[in-house]
Amino acid sequence: MQFLLLPFLAPLVLAGHVQHPFASQDANVTLVPVTLGVMSRCPDAALCESVFDDVLNKVMSKVELSLTFIGQLNDSDETYGVTCKHGPQECAGNIHELCMISRVPQTKWWPYVICLNFMGKDKIGLGETAKRCAEVVSVDWVESGIEACVDGLEGSDLLRESVRNTTALGIEKSCTILINGVTRCIVDDGRWLQCDYGHTSADFVAMINKEYAKLNP
Ligand SMILES: *[C@@H]1O[C@H](CO)[C@@H](O)[C@H](O)[C@H]1NC(C)=O
Ligand SMILES: *[C@@H]1O[C@H](CO)[C@@H](O)[C@H](O)[C@H]1NC(C)=O
Ligand SMILES: *[C@@H]1O[C@H](CO)[C@@H](O)[C@H](O)[C@H]1NC(C)=O
Repeated sequence: MQFLLLPFLAPLVLAGHVQHPFASQDANVTLVPVTLGVMSRCPDAALCESVFDDVLNKVMSKVELSLTFIGQLNDSDETYGVTCKHGPQECAGNIHELCMISRVPQTKWWPYVICLNFMGKDKIGLGETAKRCAEVVSVDWVESGIEACVDGLEGSDLLRESVRNTTALGIEKSCTILINGVTRCIVDDGRWLQCDYGHTSADFVAMINKEYAKLNP
């Protein structure tokens, strides 16, 4: 029930020994948790993810990456139980990403997210786009179980859980970048805010290398 934790406790939880079954070969390596607070059809999220694509090209194996989605829980919404800022199509796009994340390692789901962004925000959330990008990253939409996740209750359950997590982390803006539980930047209307240690991909790589060295003395 970690989503019930107060935001100021979240960094302690995130700094713990988070291990992802797919993320690392070496069971004794502690990966650096990197969390991006996003919305699938948000231009700031696309901007932030494009910078992180450069970052991950350099340090993918040192990072445990997660996306956490911003939205409003809403019991009156019969499809998702969530209201998404850029409409129901954004909720669908968030679910495509969450279902992919739940089924494949980050070395595959990350390029999937980048593919969706490349298709453009008007196409994100459409079934056709979701399937096309799965093909691009060589994931079988049906065999992988992603279709069942998207079409069943699992997808919207994941979305609500993600939105609760986002709230528990105190994340309000897409895109918010947390490295090892600490907010390192917020991208808002194309502006980079609260980036005390810089906002280029090289700056993020340096921050991740530093945290990695601390976590693996
Ligand atoms: C991990 O650490 C344990 C105990 O410290 C050790 O027995 C084991 O061999 C290590 N495994 C690897 C893959 O380094
Ligand atoms: C909740 O969902 C309903 C149905 O989709 C919508 O009409 C209403 O505006 C939403 N409320 C909020 C606060 O977003
Ligand atoms: C919510 O947060 C918990 C704890 O960090 C995590 O295990 C879970 O995967 C998250 N859920 C989603 C849908 O991101």
